[in-house]
Amino acid sequence: MADPSYIPPAAGSPAPPSIELRGVSLAFDEKIVLRDISFEILPGATAVLLGVSGSGKSVLLKLMLGLLKPDSGDILIEGENIAPMSEAGLYAFRRRMGIVFQEGALFDSLSVYENVSYRLREEGKLEEGGIEQRVRQMLGFVELEEAIDKMPAELSGGMRRRVAIARAIISEPSIMLYDSPTAGLDPVTAHNIDALMVKMRDAQHVTSVVVTHRIQDALVVSGFVYSTAQQGLLPVTANSGSQVAEETQFLVLRDAGLYFRGNRQELLTSRDPYLRGFVK
Ligand SMILES: Nc1ncnc2c1ncn2[C@@H]1O[C@H](COP(=O)(O)OP(=O)(O)OP(=O)(O)O)[C@@H](O)[C@H]1O
Ligand SMILES: [Mg+2]
Repeated sequence: MADPSYIPPAAGSPAPPSIELRGVSLAFDEKIVLRDISFEILPGATAVLLGVSGSGKSVLLKLMLGLLKPDSGDILIEGENIAPMSEAGLYAFRRRMGIVFQEGALFDSLSVYENVSYRLREEGKLEEGGIEQRVRQMLGFVELEEAIDKMPAELSGGMRRRVAIARAIISEPSIMLYDSPTAGLDPVTAHNIDALMVKMRDAQHVTSVVVTHRIQDALVVSGFVYSTAQQGLLPVTANSGSQVAEETQFLVLRDAGLYFRGNRQELLTSRDPYLRGFVK
């Protein structure tokens, strides 16, 4: 069915998907973790990746970062196949991608300031004054400026997660990968993290992949937009003009395959007993 609001890409230079997997398979020894996985995520769009523990969600993110290589298939990031790339080639690619690892993974012996500034220091483009300004800006974004001189051990789980987000976004990635960013957090803090992901999407137009066990995360990401004027989230309404939230794509991994790919409505109204288990 033709969508009247669909605007075709300009002729000649259609932007490639931010992320595209084509027939990706990976096994560890005898165990097949992913079999023939294909999907694409368009620039500025969000994909929510669901699946039970051990279904291959983190492995899929690591493939997108080039930290793992597929046994077969192609992984295109902004149109370029990273599967055959050398470590040196991948290095440049990873700069465009921010990841919040499942474990939070801050450097324990470094302060919040040192953790967040890590990538900028590695790039070596800014003087210390400029670095500090950026770090404060990023910590402001995640509302944690007061923690700048703290050590990770002095932070709560939710604060650590927010520092990890600040660290990931400091080099202005065009793609963000969030691995279970709300796991183990109380509902209020988890909601704040969800709101941050929405803000990244709507204020910075970042393409996002969100791995989660919590359907609540998915409902916030697909049901709200960030309002710069109000500095907060607003529910998506028919006239809110945001297709981005509604276009959130849901991917469910099961038995090494992509069991479901669809939108929020399709997932929420599915009668499939397995999918119902995720949306209860
Ligand atoms: N480096 C590795 N070597 C061998 N097996 C691995 C490796 N990494 C992951 N696996 C296996 O791949 C499967 C998928 O792991 P993965 O970490 O992607 O699960 P997940 O979906 O992220 O689970 P969770 O929700 O618990 O984080 C598991 O069976 C795991 O044991
Ligand atoms: Mg995982």
